Amino acid sequence: MASRTQLQSPQDFLIIAHRGASSYAPENTIAAFDLALQMGASHLELDVHLTCDDYLVIIHDDTVNRTTNGTGPVASQTLAALQALDAGAWFGEAFVGARIPTLAEVLTRYHGRVHLHIELKGHTAHLPQQTVDLVRAHGMAQHVTFTSFQHTHLQTMRAYAPALPTGWLVGEISAAVLAQAHALGCVQLCPRASLVTPGLVQHLHAEGFRVRAWGVAHEALMRQVVEAGADGMTVNFPDKLLAYMAGRVSPPGEERQS
Ligand code: G3P
Ligand code: CA
Repeated sequence: MASRTQLQSPQDFLIIAHRGASSYAPENTIAAFDLALQMGASHLELDVHLTCDDYLVIIHDDTVNRTTNGTGPVASQTLAALQALDAGAWFGEAFVGARIPTLAEVLTRYHGRVHLHIELKGHTAHLPQQTVDLVRAHGMAQHVTFTSFQHTHLQTMRAYAPALPTGWLVGEISAAVLAQAHALGCVQLCPRASLVTPGLVQHLHAEGFRVRAWGVAHEALMRQVVEAGADGMTVNFPDKLLAYMAGRVSPPGEERQS
């Protein structure tokens, strides 16, 4: 069991809408991001790729096949071609006409209202630099955490923008992973949610990392991550996590003053 002293208060715990409120609206669309904000989330996660004409677009997969009515790799298409696709119909009739957003559009739309967790996807070497440049140009550098599964993207971040916060998404935790995460200067380690236990959280905190989980497939796992003392998670159903955190009782003597 997690020690009661490890309780995260609702305002400190990172409740991050994963690809927006993606249980209820098509992932990585304005509809999903808007819905997450309407639910009360103030952290959005999204995935960025580069188009062949060098625009940053928000989509998860390397191809458009699963989440649009098109086919083929994102990286081989122009922005105009991608934005002609329907990115909502696959999810439901109510979302017909949704488009693949650009990162610039999202930075403009949510400026001053959210913290973004931008996952560097794709396999283009200059994607991290271009993402940083765009974030800085929009004055959002203080409101973004950059994450990736890809070691090379995080190495590029370390060299290009060492002051900006990064988190490494990992499928396992080992001594080698910890050593690499330190070398990368990551502030967060982001383990698969099913790995998150009180012992793991204590270990990663002792190493100096914030612990932010991913892969929260259901509510029991959501609760497990919270009770383990983690610092946050991405979740497709932010409404349920918000309600759970709001309903938790602070330990005696630790009630909030406001
Ligand atoms: O929280 C990060 C999470 O988004 C990683 O997995 O596949 O959804 O990008 P994925
Ligand atoms: Ca992601």
